[in-house]
Amino acid sequence: ETARIGVTGLAVMGRNLARNLARHGHPVAVHNRTSARTRSLVDEFGHEGTFLPADTPEKFVGSLERPRRLVIMVKAGGPTDAVIDEFAPLLDPGDMIVDGGNANFADTRRRESALRERGVHFVGTGISGGEEGALHGPSIMPGGSAASYEALGPLLEDISAKVDGTPCCTHVGPDGAGHFVKMVHNGIEYADMQLIAESYDLLRHAAGLAPAEIAEVFRTWNTGRLGSYLIEITAEVLAHTDAATGRPFVDVVLDQAEQKGTGRWTVQTALDLGVPVGGIAEAVFARSVSGHAVLREASQNLPGPSRNDAFVSFGFPEAVEKALYASKIVAYAQGFHEIQAGSAEYGWNIDLGAMATIWRGGCIIRARFLDRIRAAYEADPQTPTLLTDPHFTEAVGDAQDAWREVIAIAAKLGIPVPGFSTALAYYDSLRAPRLPAALTQGQRDYFGAHTYRRVDREGTFHTLWGADRTETTP
Ligand code: 6PG
Repeated sequence: ETARIGVTGLAVMGRNLARNLARHGHPVAVHNRTSARTRSLVDEFGHEGTFLPADTPEKFVGSLERPRRLVIMVKAGGPTDAVIDEFAPLLDPGDMIVDGGNANFADTRRRESALRERGVHFVGTGISGGEEGALHGPSIMPGGSAASYEALGPLLEDISAKVDGTPCCTHVGPDGAGHFVKMVHNGIEYADMQLIAESYDLLRHAAGLAPAEIAEVFRTWNTGRLGSYLIEITAEVLAHTDAATGRPFVDVVLDQAEQKGTGRWTVQTALDLGVPVGGIAEAVFARSVSGHAVLREASQNLPGPSRNDAFVSFGFPEAVEKALYASKIVAYAQGFHEIQAGSAEYGWNIDLGAMATIWRGGCIIRARFLDRIRAAYEADPQTPTLLTDPHFTEAVGDAQDAWREVIAIAAKLGIPVPGFSTALAYYDSLRAPRLPAALTQGQRDYFGAHTYRRVDREGTFHTLWGADRTETTP
């Protein structure tokens, strides 16, 4: 018997993906560096479908139907290269390697081009949804050649999440496009999580609500336009009580957020592409600040606001909901701008509406709201920003007074809201008919003769600041 597809790397994601394939009736070859893992998978879950265990790479590759489809689910970076080096010599032209890890898209581009020379398709694939998603239906973002998608697409779509019958999987674009989009997905995930954390902090410390009460607020929000997986699990986490102490779980967790790097990559890449993604950047920085224990300890006696009489009205949770929704729209607008810019830079031709479509289910940022984004790109695929889509313009317009008020209250009370603040600053920057960038240009011309352009004439100008200040055209 031959397997339709094989999975090597049977840690929890690989294991669950293999089970998902088997449960959908696809015979799946399974392999792991240490074969105890392969055995335990088959022992425990062999009844779920057809597993073909292999204890050597040769047997594994030998058990695959041709062209071979081989999924690697190992750690990004060195381990991924090691596995590719191990398996690539065993493959033939036309075979496909799917990398389902959280690889850096630049690595994926390099690997794709090296394997393409040998006729092997390398398909860098973003997979989101964590352990549960991998098992029950993730959101899948495959890059690589269009030809490889013909052979892989039906399988991947079959095991992906479905929303209204539509699979949360589509061919994103060539070479590193899939991993690029997964990276931005994670950047947006960071921003979303930060905005939710700020909302919680305000409800707790400005409105004085207890975690269990805040859980109720999030539960209510989850039934409305903010309805999403992240809001849903936020309520669960906030409602949870620590068994050992009887205290709210959120109070016994060390307040230092960790990260594996995809959010940081999103920001680094955005800097290279020249795309402003303040919402994502502040989310990465907020985690970073939280982790600087020494710095925070040294700062404990820095003075806070001398007055804390900011007025928190009865309707404060509703105002926070508006601030959260408006900030969220901005964060997504920034993330989609980055995808648009990456697509243009690398010639990927990514369909932005399709990305919103495959994020509606399966992934960590799945949300009701993504249907709105899909609709916005359907109405105008070329829109420079989601903010000008009529639905979002109206939503932000309606939210903005509350949004501004919430940020003002936070500032007066000394509660940090970097995500809310940067989102509003971005919004106001885009709206502004004139920005003080004109002054920046004047300063640059003054100290470095860096020149400027004028509003009323074409050309490049320099003022002789050190002499008689006449204007020249260098
Ligand atoms: C997903 C998640 C997944 C993972 C991140 C967490 O889409 O399923 O994004 O990729 O949970 O790696 O990232 P941090 O450890 O950096 O928070």
